[in-house]
Amino acid sequence: MNTESCTYVIFGATGNLARLKLIPGFYHLEVEKKLPDGARIIAVGRRPWDRAVWLSEVRGILTEKFGQALDNETFERFSSRLDYHRGNLDEAECYRTLAASLSGNSQLSGNMAFYLAISPGDFGPVVESLSRVDLLNEEYGWRRVVIEKPIGYDLESAQSLQRRLMRHLNEDQIYRIDHYLGKGMVQNVLVFRFANVMLEPLWNRNYIDHVQITHAESMGIAGRGEYYNSAGAMRDMLQSHLLQLLALVAMEPPVSMDAEALRDEKVKVLKSIRPIPKSAVHAHSFRGQYSKGGIQGQKVKSYLEEDGIPADSTTETYAALKLLIDNWRWRGVPFYLRTGKRMAASQSSISICFRHPPLQFFRDTHVSCMNPNWVLMGIQPDECIRIEMTVKEPGLEMRTRSTSLDASFRNPDERQVDAYEDLLLDVMKGDRSLFLRFDEVEYAWRIIDPILQTWAVERDFIATYPAGSWGPAESQRLFEKEGQFWRSSLLPECPL
Ligand code: BG6
Repeated sequence: MNTESCTYVIFGATGNLARLKLIPGFYHLEVEKKLPDGARIIAVGRRPWDRAVWLSEVRGILTEKFGQALDNETFERFSSRLDYHRGNLDEAECYRTLAASLSGNSQLSGNMAFYLAISPGDFGPVVESLSRVDLLNEEYGWRRVVIEKPIGYDLESAQSLQRRLMRHLNEDQIYRIDHYLGKGMVQNVLVFRFANVMLEPLWNRNYIDHVQITHAESMGIAGRGEYYNSAGAMRDMLQSHLLQLLALVAMEPPVSMDAEALRDEKVKVLKSIRPIPKSAVHAHSFRGQYSKGGIQGQKVKSYLEEDGIPADSTTETYAALKLLIDNWRWRGVPFYLRTGKRMAASQSSISICFRHPPLQFFRDTHVSCMNPNWVLMGIQPDECIRIEMTVKEPGLEMRTRSTSLDASFRNPDERQVDAYEDLLLDVMKGDRSLFLRFDEVEYAWRIIDPILQTWAVERDFIATYPAGSWGPAESQRLFEKEGQFWRSSLLPECPL
């Protein structure tokens, strides 16, 4: 697909997302010479700045991020694309002047992408205001709107937002970002599964015992108290990122890599997840909140002591879930998902545990127990794929040990691409395969809504775990069989 020239308009350009991800992402695309010639990036912000002030802000952001690696010549080229539009999102004036400057400038492409890096509550009003000044009309070029998760707060609010957006946009104008899908290693899950024929025969209930998907962060809520306390770990991570990972691991091969084909298969998986009735919420889910503790030798305060968190909050900073997929491939194979803030380490991984082989063959030897095979996919910080096998120990006796075949994704000298770079480029190409279709969002909410509703009324108690640990030990109760444990390491020496 071609990258078409366009004007990116970023609402919320002075906020965190833009500073940490979007501006550095665009700059990297400039470094890689991926931005098409006429591409322009217009920041919309409330602050009383002009272009010159914005350019010095951007230089500051990039210097902080890249230090010495910031190249003057590239920065000059990049900054020639930038502009600043001062305006208040709540005022009609902001959109009138924006429309006038966008359509009155013959240097700008007729294609426009509006990136809403703003609070989700503003998605509806901003789209309505853009439509009012005719900026979503595709007569003179495409018009696309990029929004970030969370898409709604639950199924009902997601549907109501969708109805609101659809009054002004077609589905193919909406780009819903789940930035996990932009991560190189997440895309590699598809390549690993569908470009290597040897795995396919094993990728099912006959050989796989269970699947674990973990996203752990040693970081806390990073000053986002107000948002986080109303969202919690289940909405913040599990409803979106982790269910997407599950869909990629579990889906059938799509007929092509075309966006609709890929998303059709993901939706089929989400639809096949066995609904969790309210009576089974405790058997299928676990929540916890961090108490004070220590991370890398530093004392860390409890969630309740963080800024902006009410002293009686029962918002979860850890959530774990057991899901069953009722289809031919996966019937009976549990998928365990967990995420937590202030955990022992920052690590995201998918761990696939295979069934035990029959042991009888080694009856008269020293082999008493063998580890099962695991396929481990490290998403971050290590991007790797490892297959753990049992091999014979050298020596006269028949003893075994685990070793791993390493198919690391990136060589040390290869650059790690940030998820946003890929996604920003895909918007310009019109490639929606890594963006969420609304039915994916809808089915994801259907899965977790009963849990959220149960937790919302159970406000008397929440289990705690010390900051710097691997979460509440009681969440172990989600596992079905003895011998199943949360796998927190990708190293073969400590398999469980
Ligand atoms: C965001 C969540 O969507 O993903 C954050 O809101 C979380 O709470 C972040 O920290 C994790 O993303 P990454 O790319 O840093 O793993």
